[in-house]
Amino acid sequence: MLRAYAGLAPETLSFIHYEELASLPHFNPDLDCGIVPTAVQELRRLISEADAVLISTPEYAHGLPGSFKNALDWLVSDPAFYGKAVVILHASRGSTWALDSLKEVLRTMSARIIESASVAVPLGSNQLDEAAIIARADLNKVFKDSIAALLSTGATPAFPSDPPQPE
Ligand SMILES: Cc1cc2nc3c(=O)[nH]c(=O)nc-3n(C[C@H](O)[C@H](O)[C@H](O)COP(=O)(O)O)c2cc1C
Repeated sequence: MLRAYAGLAPETLSFIHYEELASLPHFNPDLDCGIVPTAVQELRRLISEADAVLISTPEYAHGLPGSFKNALDWLVSDPAFYGKAVVILHASRGSTWALDSLKEVLRTMSARIIESASVAVPLGSNQLDEAAIIARADLNKVFKDSIAALLSTGATPAFPSDPPQPE
Protein backbone atom coordinates (compact mmCIF):
# COMPACT_ATOMS: atom_id res chain seq x y z
CA MET A 1 0.00 0.00 0.00
CA LEU A 2 2.80 2.40 0.86
CA ARG A 3 4.57 1.65 -2.43
CA ALA A 4 1.32 2.17 -4.34
CA TYR A 5 0.78 5.48 -2.55
CA ALA A 6 4.26 6.63 -3.53
CA GLY A 7 3.65 5.44 -7.09
CA LEU A 8 0.55 7.62 -7.36
CA ALA A 9 2.27 10.77 -6.10
CA PRO A 10 3.70 13.43 -8.42
CA GLU A 11 7.35 12.90 -9.37
CA THR A 12 8.21 16.07 -7.49
CA LEU A 13 7.73 14.10 -4.25
CA SER A 14 10.25 11.53 -3.16
CA PHE A 15 9.58 8.77 -0.65
CA ILE A 16 11.92 6.81 1.61
CA HIS A 17 10.53 3.49 2.78
CA TYR A 18 12.01 2.88 6.24
CA GLU A 19 12.50 -0.84 6.77
CA GLU A 20 15.08 -0.85 9.57
CA LEU A 21 12.90 -1.46 12.64
CA ALA A 22 14.93 -4.56 13.45
CA SER A 23 18.17 -2.57 13.62
CA LEU A 24 16.92 -0.41 16.50
CA PRO A 25 17.93 -1.51 20.00
CA HIS A 26 15.24 -1.79 22.65
CA PHE A 27 14.42 1.69 23.83
CA ASN A 28 16.13 2.54 27.09
CA PRO A 29 16.15 6.10 28.47
CA ASP A 30 19.65 5.42 29.81
CA LEU A 31 20.84 5.06 26.18
CA ASP A 32 18.90 8.13 25.06
CA CYS A 33 21.52 10.64 26.13
CA GLY A 34 24.85 11.71 24.72
CA ILE A 35 25.71 9.74 21.60
CA VAL A 36 22.72 7.54 20.81
CA PRO A 37 23.06 4.21 18.93
CA THR A 38 23.87 4.55 15.21
CA ALA A 39 20.56 3.09 14.06
CA VAL A 40 18.72 5.67 16.17
CA GLN A 41 20.85 8.47 14.73
CA GLU A 42 19.90 7.31 11.24
CA LEU A 43 16.18 7.14 12.09
CA ARG A 44 16.31 10.65 13.57
CA ARG A 45 18.22 11.97 10.53
CA LEU A 46 15.53 10.62 8.21
CA ILE A 47 12.78 12.11 10.37
CA SER A 48 14.47 15.51 10.52
CA GLU A 49 14.92 15.61 6.74
CA ALA A 50 11.37 14.47 5.94
CA ASP A 51 8.63 17.00 5.24
CA ALA A 52 6.06 14.43 6.32
CA VAL A 53 5.91 10.88 7.67
CA LEU A 54 3.51 8.24 6.37
CA ILE A 55 2.65 5.56 8.90
CA SER A 56 0.93 2.27 8.22
CA THR A 57 0.87 -0.43 10.85
CA PRO A 58 -0.84 -3.76 11.43
CA GLU A 59 -2.60 -4.49 14.70
CA TYR A 60 -1.27 -7.21 16.97
CA ALA A 61 -3.36 -8.39 19.93
CA HIS A 62 -5.39 -5.19 19.85
CA GLY A 63 -2.29 -3.01 20.08
CA LEU A 64 0.60 -1.56 18.12
CA PRO A 65 3.34 -4.01 17.14
CA GLY A 66 6.08 -3.82 19.78
CA SER A 67 8.82 -3.26 17.21
CA PHE A 68 7.01 -0.25 15.79
CA LYS A 69 6.20 1.23 19.22
CA ASN A 70 9.89 0.81 20.01
CA ALA A 71 10.75 3.07 17.07
CA LEU A 72 8.23 5.66 18.25
CA ASP A 73 9.71 5.51 21.77
CA TRP A 74 13.11 6.48 20.30
CA LEU A 75 11.45 9.55 18.76
CA VAL A 76 9.72 10.79 21.92
CA SER A 77 12.68 12.96 22.89
CA ASP A 78 13.52 13.92 19.30
CA PRO A 79 12.68 17.60 18.67
CA ALA A 80 12.44 16.83 14.94
CA PHE A 81 9.26 14.87 15.63
CA TYR A 82 7.50 17.73 17.45
CA GLY A 83 4.95 19.18 15.05
CA LYS A 84 6.03 16.76 12.31
CA ALA A 85 3.29 16.20 9.74
CA VAL A 86 2.11 12.59 9.96
CA VAL A 87 -0.30 10.85 7.59
CA ILE A 88 -1.84 7.59 8.78
CA LEU A 89 -2.70 5.01 6.13
CA HIS A 90 -4.75 2.33 7.82
CA ALA A 91 -5.49 -0.90 6.00
CA SER A 92 -6.45 -3.39 8.69
CA ARG A 93 -10.13 -4.13 8.43
CA GLY A 94 -11.94 -3.75 11.73
CA SER A 95 -8.83 -3.11 13.82
CA THR A 96 -9.54 0.14 15.60
CA TRP A 97 -7.46 -0.51 18.72
CA ALA A 98 -4.12 -0.06 16.96
CA LEU A 99 -5.38 2.99 15.08
CA ASP A 100 -6.76 4.65 18.22
CA SER A 101 -3.59 3.80 20.13
CA LEU A 102 -1.40 5.17 17.34
CA LYS A 103 -3.28 8.48 17.34
CA GLU A 104 -3.01 8.76 21.11
CA VAL A 105 0.73 8.05 21.02
CA LEU A 106 1.32 10.54 18.19
CA ARG A 107 -0.70 13.24 19.99
CA THR A 108 1.32 12.60 23.15
CA MET A 109 4.50 12.98 21.10
CA SER A 110 3.23 16.32 19.71
CA ALA A 111 3.25 15.12 16.13
CA ARG A 112 0.81 16.84 13.78
CA ILE A 113 -1.62 14.26 12.43
CA ILE A 114 -2.90 15.39 9.03
CA GLU A 115 -6.46 14.10 9.41
CA SER A 116 -7.55 15.35 5.99
CA ALA A 117 -4.92 13.15 4.35
CA SER A 118 -5.20 10.14 6.66
CA VAL A 119 -7.32 7.33 5.29
CA ALA A 120 -8.64 3.92 6.29
CA VAL A 121 -9.07 1.47 3.45
CA PRO A 122 -10.38 -2.05 3.93
CA LEU A 123 -7.66 -3.93 2.04
CA GLY A 124 -8.32 -6.92 4.26
CA SER A 125 -5.46 -9.17 3.36
CA ASN A 126 -2.19 -9.36 1.51
CA GLN A 127 -3.80 -10.36 -1.77
CA LEU A 128 -3.36 -6.99 -3.47
CA ASP A 129 0.13 -6.01 -4.57
CA GLU A 130 1.26 -2.53 -5.53
CA ALA A 131 0.12 -2.81 -9.15
CA ALA A 132 -3.27 -4.23 -8.16
CA ILE A 133 -3.87 -1.41 -5.70
CA ILE A 134 -2.97 1.20 -8.29
CA ALA A 135 -5.26 -0.50 -10.81
CA ARG A 136 -8.26 -0.31 -8.44
CA ALA A 137 -10.03 2.93 -9.35
CA ASP A 138 -11.59 3.34 -5.89
CA LEU A 139 -8.28 2.94 -4.04
CA ASN A 140 -6.47 5.02 -6.64
CA LYS A 141 -8.85 7.89 -5.98
CA VAL A 142 -8.63 7.59 -2.18
CA PHE A 143 -4.83 7.77 -2.27
CA LYS A 144 -4.68 10.57 -4.85
CA ASP A 145 -7.14 12.58 -2.74
CA SER A 146 -4.96 11.93 0.30
CA ILE A 147 -1.85 13.13 -1.54
CA ALA A 148 -3.70 16.26 -2.68
CA ALA A 149 -4.84 16.89 0.91
CA LEU A 150 -1.29 16.49 2.17
CA LEU A 151 0.05 18.90 -0.44
CA SER A 152 -2.65 21.43 0.37
CA THR A 153 -1.51 21.60 4.01
CA GLY A 154 1.81 23.05 2.92
CA ALA A 155 3.61 20.44 5.04
CA THR A 156 5.17 19.18 1.85
CA PRO A 157 6.19 21.74 -0.77
CA ALA A 158 3.94 21.34 -3.81
CA PHE A 159 6.93 21.83 -6.06
CA PRO A 160 9.98 20.83 -4.03
CA SER A 161 12.31 21.37 -6.98
CA ASP A 162 11.39 25.07 -7.22
CA PRO A 163 13.91 27.46 -5.68
CA PRO A 164 12.78 29.19 -2.47
CA GLN A 165 10.90 32.43 -3.09
CA PRO A 166 12.32 35.65 -1.66
CA GLU A 167 10.40 36.90 1.40
C1 LIG B 1 0.31 -12.28 16.45
C2 LIG B 1 -0.75 -11.59 15.64
C3 LIG B 1 -1.74 -10.88 16.28
C4 LIG B 1 -2.71 -10.22 15.54
N1 LIG B 1 -3.67 -9.51 16.19
C5 LIG B 1 -4.60 -8.84 15.47
C6 LIG B 1 -5.58 -8.04 16.12
O1 LIG B 1 -5.65 -7.92 17.32
N2 LIG B 1 -6.48 -7.38 15.33
C7 LIG B 1 -6.44 -7.45 13.96
O2 LIG B 1 -7.27 -6.83 13.29
N3 LIG B 1 -5.50 -8.20 13.31
C8 LIG B 1 -4.60 -8.88 14.04
N4 LIG B 1 -3.64 -9.62 13.39
C9 LIG B 1 -3.61 -9.59 11.94
C10 LIG B 1 -2.55 -8.63 11.47
O3 LIG B 1 -2.90 -7.31 11.76
C11 LIG B 1 -2.40 -8.86 9.98
O4 LIG B 1 -1.65 -10.00 9.86
C12 LIG B 1 -1.70 -7.74 9.30
O5 LIG B 1 -2.54 -6.63 9.29
C13 LIG B 1 -1.34 -8.12 7.87
O6 LIG B 1 -2.51 -8.45 7.23
P1 LIG B 1 -2.58 -9.49 6.03
O7 LIG B 1 -1.51 -10.49 6.26
O8 LIG B 1 -3.95 -10.08 6.14
O9 LIG B 1 -2.40 -8.66 4.84
C14 LIG B 1 -2.69 -10.29 14.13
C15 LIG B 1 -1.67 -11.00 13.50
C16 LIG B 1 -0.71 -11.64 14.23
C17 LIG B 1 0.36 -12.41 13.50
